[in-house]
Formats: sequence, C-alpha cells, structure tokens
Amino acid sequence: MYSSSCFHKPFLGYLLSSLQAASIFFRNLRSIIYCLLLCNLKNQTCLIYFLFLCVNIETMNWRRLCCCIYQEKEDGNKENNKSRDNLWEIYTLKEILHATNNFHNDNKIGEGGFGSVYWGRTSKGVEIAVKRLKAMSAKAEMEFAVEVEILGRVRHKNLLGLRGFYASREERLIVYDYMPNYSLITHLHGQLAADCLLDWPRRMSIAIGAAEGLGYLHHEANPHIIHRDIKASNVLLDANFQAKVADFGFAKLIPDGVTHMTTRVKGTLGYLAPEYAMWGKVSESCDVYSFGILLLEIISAKKPLEKLPGGVKRDIVQWITPYVQKGAFDRIVDPRLKGKFDRAELKSAVMVALKCTDSNPENRPSILEVVEWLKGSVGRRRKEMTNIEHMLEEDGDKETDTDLEGFRMAKSEVRRKWAR
Ligand SMILES: Nc1ncnc2c1ncn2[C@@H]1O[C@H](COP(=O)(O)OP(=O)(O)OP(=O)(O)O)[C@@H](O)[C@H]1O
Ligand SMILES: [Mg+2]
Repeated sequence: MYSSSCFHKPFLGYLLSSLQAASIFFRNLRSIIYCLLLCNLKNQTCLIYFLFLCVNIETMNWRRLCCCIYQEKEDGNKENNKSRDNLWEIYTLKEILHATNNFHNDNKIGEGGFGSVYWGRTSKGVEIAVKRLKAMSAKAEMEFAVEVEILGRVRHKNLLGLRGFYASREERLIVYDYMPNYSLITHLHGQLAADCLLDWPRRMSIAIGAAEGLGYLHHEANPHIIHRDIKASNVLLDANFQAKVADFGFAKLIPDGVTHMTTRVKGTLGYLAPEYAMWGKVSESCDVYSFGILLLEIISAKKPLEKLPGGVKRDIVQWITPYVQKGAFDRIVDPRLKGKFDRAELKSAVMVALKCTDSNPENRPSILEVVEWLKGSVGRRRKEMTNIEHMLEEDGDKETDTDLEGFRMAKSEVRRKWAR
C-alpha cells in the first residue's frame, strides 16, 4: 500500500540510515518521526511536503541546537538537557491498549476532525488522554508530525503537555495529560453547559490563561509559533479549571524576522481572521483575532457563527456590536450567570475582544498587550473589592447576630455599587 517509488533504493537506504543514525546521535524525537514518516510516503507531493517540513524544522533548529551545545559547554549542566528529553516517551501499543481498555467505547471522551480521544490509565496509575488519528492520509501524517514535533518542545503552564506517542504503519497515537474538566466547548455549549461550572472569575482566569499560553507561543517559544486553530474545543481545563491550550496540529513555525507568511487556510470557520480566510496571510495577529472571538464566546456563551432563520449566518461580532453601541453590556453576558458578574470587568473584556477582532490586523493588539489589559482590569477590580471587604469585615466584627442580615445587605449593596 505504501511505496516510496520516487526514490532509488540505494539513495533511500542511505537516507534512512543517516536519519536513523541521526536519531540515535541526537536522541531526538524529530529524527525518529522523520524515519517513520518516510517509510509511509505515498507519492511525490507527499515527498515534497515531507522535505519541506524537514528543511523548515531543521534550518530553524540548527541555531537552537548550536545554542544548546554552547550553553551545555558553558555551564556544564548536562542534566538539564537530559530531563528535557525525558519529558515525553515513546509508548508501546500494548501499553496504550491496556490503558484505554482496547480503545473501548466507554473510554471515548471526544471526537474531532482528525480522530477520537480516549481516556486511559497507565500501569503506573497516571490518567492520560490518547488521540487516535483516523485516516492515514498524507494530511494526517503531516498533522501528526507537526503536532508531535511542536508539543515535544514547548512547556508552559497554559499549554497542554505531551506525554508521548506511538507510531506504526497502522496507528498514530498521541498521548497527552488528561484534563478532567474537558474543554471550554463542553462547558459553553456541550454536556456540562447546564451545570454552569464556569462562574465569572473562572471565565476571566481561563481567558487570561489561554492568552498567556498563546503569549508563550508567540513571543517565547523559539522559533515563534502561530497556533492557527484557537477555538473553544482547543482550550482544555485541568482539575483547577486552569486553561491549557491544545492542538498544535495546525501550528506554523515562524523563523525570526518573518512578519507574515502566505499559506493554505486551515482552522475553524467563525474564528478565522479575514485576511487569513481570504488571502491565506498568516501572522500572530490571526491568533489574536481568534482569541478575540473566543473571549466573546466565553463572555456570552454564544457560538462564533449563528445560523439565522433563512440560512443567513451572523458572526458573534455582528451580534455584539449593537449592544456595545448602546452601552447595553448586560445583554451580552451569558444569562446563565444570572447577573453574577463584574460589570467593569465585563466592559473591559468586551472592549479588548473588539480590539482583537479588528478587521485590520495592524490595529489588533499583541497577545501580550491582551494579557496585560485583562490582568490589569481583573487585578484592579479584585484589589478594590478586597479593600472594601476588609473595611466591611472590620465593621462586621462589631456587629451583633441580630444585625448580621443588615450587614450582609450592606455588603452586597457596596458590591453592587462597585460593580456598576
Ligand atoms: N487531553 C484531554 N483531556 C481531556 N479531554 C480531551 C483532551 N483532549 C481532547 N479532549 C476532548 O476531546 C474532544 C475532541 O478533541 P479533538 O482535539 O480531537 O477535536 P476538536 O478540537 O473538537 O476538533 P478539531 O479536530 O477540529 O481540532 C475535545 O473537545 C475535548 O473535550
Ligand atoms: Mg482539538
């Protein structure tokens, strides 16, 4: 089924053994993936993609590799790199089958465009999520390579951690940390929407966390990474409802000095920046646009695209704009919050989201500015509230039981005043 007819055998053998040697030499995930992928290449187009990916990744990594060697020499700290390498592992199929009860249907926790996600528990008792990629099309091969390559190198409190992978001719499996609170989509539009587990402070901290994860990809990762598929189902929530940005399968690595690239459009309708959807122009500000849409979705629990009667589609920005013009911010917020939200925070979050979704990419803020604004607004409000609470608590100490109710009412009145 798989052939590499575009290569003469001796050349292929030479290439494979060099790659294998390289993989042993560098003990690096990347080279191993290349070997695995190369064995499965189907036609010339795939080969071109494959070579492009290798060149792309390798050229950008040479400098990083040199830096690593240099740094290793400088501080003589080999342990550092060793522990980095050991952050992920190559699983055996047996291990994964055992953990997921042979991919039992009861273990299935979700389904996406590229495959199903299963919950599992390893023999060491660790909970994992396994993404089982569907078809072994050339596209899926690329997604797999890109995802594993990128996830293997990034570590941040707001990015979903890769535990490892398994790859063979028949199966491509990616093993992640398991996120017990699933994804934002589950809470905004899915099975847990009715439970309303996301109160206002939680929503704001998830938004800030997701923005910080993106900030790391855009500004700290080397080379910089554009996610290209920021959306509610790709923001997962850990046990403490901390946001973890997931799915780097569409990501693009950006070499230093490149401000934008033209590429084939990927991602999800409703979240795509206009310049990207129309001309395939991709830059960090495309992620900022998607983040703006996501922020509006977090605030309102409305879907990014809504089908109106008659089949016309309306996006969330079009829906929100008249309310903003009238200053009717209360009408934007998710009614399931039952009025329990901070009005000032709401207003600034909506304004930040509108800045992010400006149709001109040059007018959009950087994600770092977004983090600063969101944190600033939430931090300021929390500080004000804490001061007021302290004042009231001091007064409250003097209260008797009989006027406790009056105290509570006074406190909520002050809260209301500050929330206005
Ligand atoms: N690590 C994880 N822990 C817990 N649940 C997860 C994890 N990864 C994914 N899921 C669940 O599986 C669902 C499907 O995820 P998946 O990434 O396959 O598809 P998607 O994001 O919905 O769509 P797309 O294929 O377009 O990315 C998610 O919505 C989420 O609820
Ligand atoms: Mg996903």
